[in-house]
Amino acid sequence: MAVAYDLEGQKRAYKRWAPYYDRVYHKLLADAHAKTARAAAKAGPDILEIGVGTGLVLPWYPEGTRVIGVDLSFHMLERARDKMLSGAAPQTRLVAAMDACRLGLADESFDAVAVPFVITLVPDPEGALDEAMRVLKPGGAIVISSKLGYDTGAMAKIEEWVAPLMKKVGWSSAFRIERIKAWAEARGDVELTEIAPLFPAGWFKLMRLVKRS
Ligand SMILES: C[S@@+](CC[C@H](N)C(=O)[O-])C[C@H]1O[C@@H](n2cnc3c(N)ncnc32)[C@H](O)[C@@H]1O
Repeated sequence: MAVAYDLEGQKRAYKRWAPYYDRVYHKLLADAHAKTARAAAKAGPDILEIGVGTGLVLPWYPEGTRVIGVDLSFHMLERARDKMLSGAAPQTRLVAAMDACRLGLADESFDAVAVPFVITLVPDPEGALDEAMRVLKPGGAIVISSKLGYDTGAMAKIEEWVAPLMKKVGWSSAFRIERIKAWAEARGDVELTEIAPLFPAGWFKLMRLVKRS
């Protein structure tokens, strides 16, 4: 299926965001960032982070891991590079400009692919997840954290109720967990092993998917 790609729009948006991003999101996303890094490291030492942004997750990766971060935006990446060079992110080996759907990285080269707060922004999320699967070793894990909504059930009702408020602060719950489940089921070689609530009160969620060996 052809997908309309507005990567230039994303780059422009994050050029504007880059100077303020850490001040706005550092504390709010700390729980999600810490848990994402920990969940990725459980799969093994070689970790790719897609949409690394200013590198807020990078300091959370535990000792013994080797992390590569990629992002579309040079302006965000400059800040991630500063964290790496200042020693604030000692496990980081490299940050580089790449599109989530076209990773210039070898097949089966990572134990984990972390995808924090980016999957909802990619025009072709299934294409990005297919790329994550390509670079993942068998038995490796994809760890997604984001604002992810449900289609049905009590949580869906609550999300519907608070949606107007959340829209005001720029968080849509339009991206559905069921979309990622459908992608996994259609592929058949990846298993959804966890959906965990994150701060605040489960509004953000973490999904862990494991590539079958
Ligand atoms: C909301 S920020 C999240 C940054 C970081 N992961 C965090 O949690 O703080 C989204 C990041 O995804 C990047 N991004 C958006 N679309 C992308 C794509 N197609 N490929 C790679 N990075 C992308 C943006 O440039 C931005 O830095």
